[in-house]
Amino acid sequence: MDYRFSQKMSTMKPSVIREILKLSSDPSVISFSAGNPASETFPTEKIAAITADALAVDPVKCLQYSVSEGYPPLREELVRWLGQDYGIDFSHNSLLVTSGAQQGIDLVTKCLVDEGDTILVEKPTFLGALNTFRSYNANLVGVEMEDDGVDLASLEQAIRSSHNPRFFYVIPTFQNPSGIVTSLAKRQGILEICRRYGVLVLEDNPYGDLRISGQPVPTIKSLDETGRDVIYLGSFSKLLAPALRVGYTVADDALMAKLVVAKQTTDVHSNSLAQIICAEFLTRWDVHDHIALLQEVYRKKAGVMCSALDTYLGGKVTYQKPQGGLFIWCTLPAQIDMPTFCKEAVKAGVAVVPGNAFYVNEEETCHSFRVNYSTPTDQQIVDGVQILAKIVENSL
Ligand SMILES: Cc1ncc(COP(=O)(O)O)c(C=O)c1O
Repeated sequence: MDYRFSQKMSTMKPSVIREILKLSSDPSVISFSAGNPASETFPTEKIAAITADALAVDPVKCLQYSVSEGYPPLREELVRWLGQDYGIDFSHNSLLVTSGAQQGIDLVTKCLVDEGDTILVEKPTFLGALNTFRSYNANLVGVEMEDDGVDLASLEQAIRSSHNPRFFYVIPTFQNPSGIVTSLAKRQGILEICRRYGVLVLEDNPYGDLRISGQPVPTIKSLDETGRDVIYLGSFSKLLAPALRVGYTVADDALMAKLVVAKQTTDVHSNSLAQIICAEFLTRWDVHDHIALLQEVYRKKAGVMCSALDTYLGGKVTYQKPQGGLFIWCTLPAQIDMPTFCKEAVKAGVAVVPGNAFYVNEEETCHSFRVNYSTPTDQQIVDGVQILAKIVENSL
């Protein structure tokens, strides 16, 4: 049988980058390319205790079909916590539990974007979101970034010159892949510009809890006093564990009604047992104690990565010290060809992701690569950076 694939699939091609990522799954390769949280942060014993109790006390609640909006006690806990810590006002909004933030990205796109409509993104941005947007045949426009977030003049220009701009997808806190924190002034500017042109803001905040230095900056959603202009995405993937596949979307009630219908055609509801685990975790323990533990682990790991970069690649690589999240965006001198560098690195035993993987147009030249410091051991960080340093030396 010859398969006739949908037009959507014709826009999704395997790329050189994915080939590098495939090689990086070889266990002998030191992986700086993953985006996984540190597995030592998983609260395994607490999850085991909650799971045993939940199955013993009310197995039907864990195993039966449930409501699409999400497990009510989890929704209540999230409304309380997001209101308190992230300034999100639920008087005009409601919350949908999703199967990871990734599903939130997909459902929002499904509800708002027709083929050929424009989605604006930061340049660079999260690869998983780009692939979702591509699967809807959206017209993608990348907006240049500065050290404190997107360039506002370029954002306005991009909106003005785009066909049917629907939303601006932004990761303002510890951005993946750049690590950038968007300043408060720029958050206000983004909201003001998007409002002026009737463009929604899709704020993705999966790393917000992982601050290792500096002061918190208000979410864009907390600045949205009408509740209509910003859609907010969060996740338990970096807080508890990614395999739970629990995330959430906060949106105005009119949009929420559509998102719920879209979820019903996708997976009906998210995994009940996983939602119970998240709800019970927030109820039984103080989440701030757990966040403090995460921050301690990542502060240490980021420190090891930065001192290795300074020691072995000092003067050759430029990067911003991370204030949180899982990534560092490293830029090399322009004479180094990035795809060649990344291929040589993986052959020599260390995988990094070339920066152009995070661009709308992967063919565009980029002199940066992304490293992750949450998954390698301290020794692997030092060894891996030494390998990178040798390749840089040989390429200059
Ligand atoms: C910016 C960003 N958004 C969303 C996700 C997806 O997270 P989840 O595991 O909640 O689907 C990721 C995962 O790495 C991410 O980096």
